[in-house]
Amino acid sequence: MVTFLLNGEVVNAEVKSSDTLLNFLRDVKELAGTKEGCNEGDCGACSVIVTDTTGKAKTTNSCITLMPQIHGKAVRTVEGISGPDGSLHPIQKSIVKNHGSQCGFCTPGFISTLAAAHKNGESDFENQLAGNLCRCTGYGPIIQSAKDTLGQPVPVWMNENLEKLKDITFPNNVPQSIEDLATLYKDNPEATLVAGATDLSLDITKKLKSFQNIIFLGGCEKLKRIDITKDTIEIGAACTISELIVSLSSTFPSFTDMLLRYGAVQIRNSATIGGNIANGSPVGDGSPALIAIGAILKLRHAKTIRMLPIEDFFIDYGVQDLNPGEFIESILVPRDVDILKCYKVSKRFDQDISAVCGCFKLTVVENTVTECRISYGGMAAIPKRAFRTEKKLIGSQWSLKTFETATSEIAKDFYPISDLRASSNYRLKVAQNLLIRLFYENSDVKVDSREVVSCP
Ligand SMILES: Cc1cc2nc3c(=O)[nH]c(=O)nc-3n(C[C@H](O)[C@H](O)[C@H](O)COP(=O)(O)OP(=O)(O)OC[C@H]3O[C@@H](n4cnc5c(N)ncnc54)[C@H](O)[C@@H]3O)c2cc1C
Ligand code: FES
Ligand code: FES
Repeated sequence: MVTFLLNGEVVNAEVKSSDTLLNFLRDVKELAGTKEGCNEGDCGACSVIVTDTTGKAKTTNSCITLMPQIHGKAVRTVEGISGPDGSLHPIQKSIVKNHGSQCGFCTPGFISTLAAAHKNGESDFENQLAGNLCRCTGYGPIIQSAKDTLGQPVPVWMNENLEKLKDITFPNNVPQSIEDLATLYKDNPEATLVAGATDLSLDITKKLKSFQNIIFLGGCEKLKRIDITKDTIEIGAACTISELIVSLSSTFPSFTDMLLRYGAVQIRNSATIGGNIANGSPVGDGSPALIAIGAILKLRHAKTIRMLPIEDFFIDYGVQDLNPGEFIESILVPRDVDILKCYKVSKRFDQDISAVCGCFKLTVVENTVTECRISYGGMAAIPKRAFRTEKKLIGSQWSLKTFETATSEIAKDFYPISDLRASSNYRLKVAQNLLIRLFYENSDVKVDSREVVSCP
């Protein structure tokens, strides 16, 4: 049984763990305002607002949200964004006034995303809207609609009263502590773990796979903690990418800048760093950065803890060093970073997977490179260090010549493949160019890199 607030009312739903929120809304509740476009997290037509105990309104793709993930939370669909008496939300009025809708298929998703941003007081609308596609209207009127509502009060019906859910119990497959999770998984090592479900749901919606036994990580509050001490940051595996951006921006600004290009807001609100590492993707964005920083994974099986440098976790394509019943509990990250630069190169600025991702951690003392860790995504079957390139740089003078010479080592470190995202030659060239960009960016030389910015 999944219990949650739907547009303010308590709902008890008898569902399968693999049922999606979108199907429940449309097929069971007949709330057809929320649309199905891509059914894989890319278009935002299915966006709804989810509020948990943090109180923050999080725009979320309901097509890839599994029902147990919303247990104990509040869901607001476009039908609940207008008031009980039918009065429109300021965002809705503004979209009408600015002609922000034509065919209207995308509009409920835009309304949901913008109503969440309005409630949170966020005004970086281009960032907020990167996960919502509109093919008819154009973004100008939609962004104008959002700007016009800045500072207008949040309608009282948008408040969620989670107190209504205070007495609910949690299903067995949504453990409430790390210890319970560890025991459950030890006893059911064949079960599938689900954190944000931004990967796993696609197996359900696109590959039509069925999962009999799913364990959800979202009930373990401790798995979502980020503990910052003098020397180390311990990141719980179930921390979302959105939470990482907030918590790590002052310590690792280049890393969190890159994470702002991770999917779009809806994906970042759900996707977790543990899931991003555990799926072993060679083109994920979190792992190359964490390898460069020198992160250590804390793995747990029952009561046994195993500490593993993250770079050793990736063995081969789709093969990770994780035993049955074992899971990632947290990621330990050293704070003593001199220079850290993280670059993502993809075909689109937003909502795209990397063709190449290059991450560099360096220490430079008296114009000499004394320490260097370089990691690339998209260059091999796994995210991988560039050992030969590192060796070439360590002990060398900080100069353009040093870096230009080191680029030839990248061709010995990697033999990238050609696929739909990029050719082998392109990947190699980009990886080399990122090394040169690193030099320029840290040499007070103006870097004329092409950044996508919108017209004022
Ligand atoms: C539209 C879209 C855009 C995306 N954009 C990006 C992008 O820009 N960059 C990027 O890197 N990725 C991107 N992704 C991929 C995906 O979001 C990430 O890989 C994500 O971090 C996975 O995390 P999750 O919590 O959703 O994992 P889930 O889907 O819940 O799980 C993924 C896998 O990890 C396992 N798992 C989860 N947590 C743990 C744990 N603690 N211990 C052990 N195993 C675990 C699960 O069993 C499963 O096999 C995108 C995905 C979509 C759908
Ligand atoms: S239907 Fe496209 S993101 Fe959900
Ligand atoms: S109004 Fe048609 S897709 Fe946006």
